[in-house]
Amino acid sequence: MKNYNVGIIGATGMVGQRFAVLLENHPWFKVTTLAASPRSAGKTYKEAVGNRWLIEKPMPKEMENIVVMDATADIEKIASQVDFVFCAVDMKKDEIKALEEAYAKHECPVMSNNSAHRFTPDVPMIIPEINDKHMEIVEAQKKRLGTKKGFISVKSNCSIQSYVPALNPLREYGITKVLACTYQAISGAGKTFETWPEMVDNLIPYIGGEEEKSEQEPLKVWGEIKGNEIVKTTAPSITTQCLRVPVTNGHFAAVFVSFENKPSKEEIIKKWKEYKGVPQQLGLPMAPKQFLNYFEEDNMPQAKLHRNLENGMAVSIGRLREDTQYDYKFVCLSHNTLRGAAGGAVEMAELYAAKGYFD
Ligand SMILES: NC(=O)c1ccc[n+]([C@@H]2O[C@H](COP(=O)([O-])OP(=O)(O)OC[C@H]3O[C@@H](n4cnc5c(N)ncnc54)[C@H](OP(=O)(O)O)[C@@H]3O)[C@@H](O)[C@H]2O)c1
Repeated sequence: MKNYNVGIIGATGMVGQRFAVLLENHPWFKVTTLAASPRSAGKTYKEAVGNRWLIEKPMPKEMENIVVMDATADIEKIASQVDFVFCAVDMKKDEIKALEEAYAKHECPVMSNNSAHRFTPDVPMIIPEINDKHMEIVEAQKKRLGTKKGFISVKSNCSIQSYVPALNPLREYGITKVLACTYQAISGAGKTFETWPEMVDNLIPYIGGEEEKSEQEPLKVWGEIKGNEIVKTTAPSITTQCLRVPVTNGHFAAVFVSFENKPSKEEIIKKWKEYKGVPQQLGLPMAPKQFLNYFEEDNMPQAKLHRNLENGMAVSIGRLREDTQYDYKFVCLSHNTLRGAAGGAVEMAELYAAKGYFD
């Protein structure tokens, strides 16, 4: 596989730091460029981050002295230095939309962690194991943007990355309705217990915008390309409640599901165990070998024990049983900043690289 030079836009933030660590020894991608706000621009990465380093592993040595660029003012220069960028910035939605389009228009593909473009109809929202086919819409997007190589691809919200993978292999039974309550870690808000002490021994029953994302994004992920857009599917009907819980990393979901043709419990577990996506078939570096892992023990999976399964890229499922109001209920877990954020975006980029989109 060819090697690619990569930039991280928003490198000083929590997700940006994750990208830096994940890409440290990546076999295909080499981080050559880091960018953030004007507050960080002109400083070395080490100076710009200062005491804001939040990841358990240290800052990669070879990135410490890279001088951080201004994500907006230096677009042209950044785009000329790299084959593509990862983007995770804390800006207003319309500013992020404009920033990402500007990179694409400078012929620099954008692998985005931001939500701004998730519902732009010709921007694919990729969970690599589920909807790699949506990558094809990029040709229509490039036509709209007037680019040869530049395009934007987004990953979905972290909250849906446990239950959508678990439900995906069951779609052939005709999923009619889903109820999911999510229990989301504080790192999903870019926080730790040090920076958010109010979360110790606490639960907050509201995460702004999260329930709408959790209900709507699966419908695009399971949508179909029609003409120049991805059209959302209309079923199943999904309702959610999203709670913030005092856990550092790992989003849980308690899921209830009904089907047109109710499968047996054994059939469901077999589907989970046997499920493989294109990343597993291609052996992408970031892809977990076993994507969906079912645990038979009643008290499993657990956030602390299983969030790091297969480098935080695997989904853990447990407690499948019949329900009195829905056909079944179960619980599932995924690491929100690995599978749910930076790791999922790196795997998405590997898929684009493997299919030649960065050449
Ligand atoms: N945390 C998660 O688990 C998670 C999961 C999925 C998606 N996301 C999304 O990823 C994005 C980043 O989240 P985060 O938690 O990493 O946020 P964060 O820790 O607050 O970091 C924000 C980053 O954006 C940069 N930034 C702020 N204003 C900017 C500007 N005007 N121009 C250029 N860069 C600017 C910051 O640079 P300075 O340091 O220079 O200010 C920093 O690098 C958000 O859109 C978030 O919704 C987060």
